[in-house]
Amino acid sequence: MRTQIVIIGSGPSGLLLGQLLHHSGIDAVVLDRATHEHILGRVRAGVLEEGTVALMEQCEAAQRLHAEGLVHDGFSLAFDGVLHRIDLAGLTDGKCVTVYGQTELTRDLMEQRARNGGVSYYQAENAQPHGFDGASPHVTFQHDGVEHRIDCDFIVGCDGFHGVSRKSVPQDAIRTFERVYPFGWLGALAEVPPVDPELIYAHHERGFALCSMRSRSRSRYYIQCGIDERAEDWSDVRFWDELRRRLPEQDAARVTVGETFEKSIVPLRSFVAEPMRFGRLFLVGDAAHIVPPTGAKGLNLAVSDVHYLFEGLREFYAEKSHAGIDAYSQRALSRVWKAVRFSWSMTMLLHRFPDEGCFGAKMQEAELNYLVQSRAATTAMAENYVGLPF
Ligand code: FAD
Ligand code: DHB
Repeated sequence: MRTQIVIIGSGPSGLLLGQLLHHSGIDAVVLDRATHEHILGRVRAGVLEEGTVALMEQCEAAQRLHAEGLVHDGFSLAFDGVLHRIDLAGLTDGKCVTVYGQTELTRDLMEQRARNGGVSYYQAENAQPHGFDGASPHVTFQHDGVEHRIDCDFIVGCDGFHGVSRKSVPQDAIRTFERVYPFGWLGALAEVPPVDPELIYAHHERGFALCSMRSRSRSRYYIQCGIDERAEDWSDVRFWDELRRRLPEQDAARVTVGETFEKSIVPLRSFVAEPMRFGRLFLVGDAAHIVPPTGAKGLNLAVSDVHYLFEGLREFYAEKSHAGIDAYSQRALSRVWKAVRFSWSMTMLLHRFPDEGCFGAKMQEAELNYLVQSRAATTAMAENYVGLPF
């Protein structure tokens, strides 16, 4: 079999790239080792930047997002027992974010791909990119017990942090940068109205907490926890008690409790691989970089990579120009590092770092106080939160 592009990974980045290419008349095959039910069962990010929404519009997949997504023009930082509102729209010439679950965005793209007759293989085993350093790239995999080989012009690795694409690159051709944080996030969904119409990022001596949502009747909460803890050890009673202890009193009193589901713990990590192109193989999204979730950048960063790569590939096929694909890695990385810096700084500001001691805690307090008193500092936070331009 032959196609123009093989996309390994059917997460948001692989699906979005597939749809953008389809709309430009470029053929792509998408393959994923998981089932599509498994992919849609993963609860992950929830906040979309305007650039992400614009790309969903560009591939005509934004109808449900506009109907059901919640547009937020601010969020709150909680510390010292009160909420401090960050007026996103007021500080950024009217920019907003949209609260819409990654699961829903993925479902919209998957359904659109199926309607358009795009070729996809789920439960594709042992996918392996080959020949990307030469002129004959191809991908092999097994599906339903049958060995497949797809020849193509380019291979795109959208297969996440644990995928095969980055691992296929010779060690001496790639450089990686990493920071692992000494805690995780325990996240839970609950079919209860959110405590506040906007998101609350809470700094507290017991640890960080985040109040988010998926709709006006479904809440998504996170609390900082130990890296070795197990979600099973967090009963609902313990979870709600701990969450409320980390919020200002009057907000804690407004939390509606209920049965939680999808309780899970994620580790926090910053990771970047450079470059993001190796001959005819490109890395996109989590395959190339990971940010800690504080600030909701992971998914949005995957989408900006898709934008740069799609523009490069479109130019390659429409204008026979290599300029866009040649610039991909440098353009994407320039934005990646800024988001890595922002996610790291939000993480450092809001979490409890036991090893930093009292001095570290005082530095966080001083920075938080400065932040809410200085329009310049709040503007910088707002500008990064709504997303830097593509
Ligand atoms: P992924 O969504 O990881 O998709 C990769 C796809 O590749 C998967 O479908 C996988 O099955 C497939 N794949 C992997 N290996 C192979 C292989 N060998 N062969 C074929 N297919 C393969 N970001 C936020 O902004 N806020 C959050 O709260 C948040 N929570 C997160 C929680 C978790 C547990 C994780 C892992 C990430 C979270 N993120 C969050 C980050 C955000 O979800 C990611 O940045 C986003 O999913 C990146 O999309 P992607 O398409 O690049 O990769
Ligand atoms: C969500 C996750 C985040 O990491 C964040 O900063 C905001 C919201 C969420 O899952 O809703």
